[in-house]
Amino acid sequence: MAKLEIKIYPDPALRKKARLVGKAGDDERRLAYNMIETMRASNGVGLAAPQVGISKRIIVVEDVEGDNSAALTLVNPKITRKKGKAKFCEGCLSLPGISNDVVRPEFITVEALNLDGDELEINTGGILARILQHEIDHLDGIVFIDKIGFLKRKKIIKQLGAKVCMEL
Ligand code: CO
Repeated sequence: MAKLEIKIYPDPALRKKARLVGKAGDDERRLAYNMIETMRASNGVGLAAPQVGISKRIIVVEDVEGDNSAALTLVNPKITRKKGKAKFCEGCLSLPGISNDVVRPEFITVEALNLDGDELEINTGGILARILQHEIDHLDGIVFIDKIGFLKRKKIIKQLGAKVCMEL
């Protein structure tokens, strides 16, 4: 049991594309367990391995639509279908104190493996779909402020004390 250190924007770990997991073993099990602990201790509902500095395609999310005492661990998750559009106010443990509306597909299908290597498919909309998309983005080095307008993003980045560069 260990609470992991969450990387804060603009830490470069948040910008790396995470590596595919070959076969999940003890290391991945321990990592997922500690990520769930860390997520809960920080009052988050999702966490991706790059946020704790680990370049692996693993996310943990609270099962907000099912049993709330359980969290889901997804290995190599991939969005295979998207439908609709919805606006939802997002925050991120790596961008403390920041939240903003983000438009994303409303309904998605996610294919992934669990820690035992079994394939699973999740069809969902609403909050779970939102959390999954946000966390899967982290695996590709994308944070939610990348999905909002330039001027608003610039303001937020300044607020976070990071350097604002012109995007050309
Ligand atoms: Co996040």
